[in-house]
Amino acid sequence: MKLTPEQKEQFERDGHLFFPGLFTPDETRTLTNAVPELYSRQEDYNVREKGTNSVRTNFAAHMYSAPFARLGRHPRMIEPVEDLLGEKLYMHQFKINGKMAFEGDVWQWHQDYGTWKNDDLMPTERAMNIAIFLDEVNEFNGPLMFIPGSHKKGVVDAKHDLTTTSYPLWTVDNALITQLVNRAGGRGGFDVAGRPVQGGIVSPKGPAGSMILFHSCLVHASTSNLSPFNRVAVYLSLCAVSNHIRRHKRPEYIAHRDFTPIDCLPDDCLLKEYPVDLPWKDGVPKSAFVTTPEPFKMAA
Ligand code: SIN
Ligand code: MN
Repeated sequence: MKLTPEQKEQFERDGHLFFPGLFTPDETRTLTNAVPELYSRQEDYNVREKGTNSVRTNFAAHMYSAPFARLGRHPRMIEPVEDLLGEKLYMHQFKINGKMAFEGDVWQWHQDYGTWKNDDLMPTERAMNIAIFLDEVNEFNGPLMFIPGSHKKGVVDAKHDLTTTSYPLWTVDNALITQLVNRAGGRGGFDVAGRPVQGGIVSPKGPAGSMILFHSCLVHASTSNLSPFNRVAVYLSLCAVSNHIRRHKRPEYIAHRDFTPIDCLPDDCLLKEYPVDLPWKDGVPKSAFVTTPEPFKMAA
């Protein structure tokens, strides 16, 4: 799938693109059906919400689940990102975020590249996020919120938040978020006739199977899910191969260490059982838990 010049321009301006219903219900179902069993596993790669057994985020399913391994090589997702970054990609991070009914907690305001830079020593922002909805996302179940154009600020100041949720994140403070939102259009809301007016926060919503592509410096967040509707979504973080991380400070299931370029499968790969490697199908190797505070040595 190639992007049009208009889509590229929109991405440059806003830092994100939205593709409602890009994957069909049959395609999405192959993924959704696999989630409950993955979430039921008592494994370190399932991070639970604070104080509950609900899964906040499942890491690295493409290493041990065939449907997700196929998704990780899907041309509808890989090709537009290769097109934008002009280079082959590897999988830096792969998450299935739960945001389960009543229990899904907030994701504080942050940029993903802030964390990849600070924790993983990723040299530049040449990496991209993809979100694929496995449930409908609506205004009730904690949709992602973006500040359009905030990616143009590069890396902004952030603090390492280790306490707000069960997952450590480099987060942006309220004063800076206020500035960025004001710069992007302020409150928005409605005009006197009740017509919606876009402000400095946008929130793509749509059916299961929709895809969002967003810049690694785009500032984003989501509120908690107080609705009775799950909001399961897959997040894939794709990095240009030459921009691979330089430090293994986090376990391999969180920040991957295999920088081999991704080869796409055919477009019908969610409907046909193309063979895929599942290197962790019998368990995560001990080496994946070994972390080092120092940058690793690059091959000469
Ligand atoms: C993220 O920013 O990585 C996740 C946000 C969300 O799932 O709402
Ligand atoms: Mn994020």
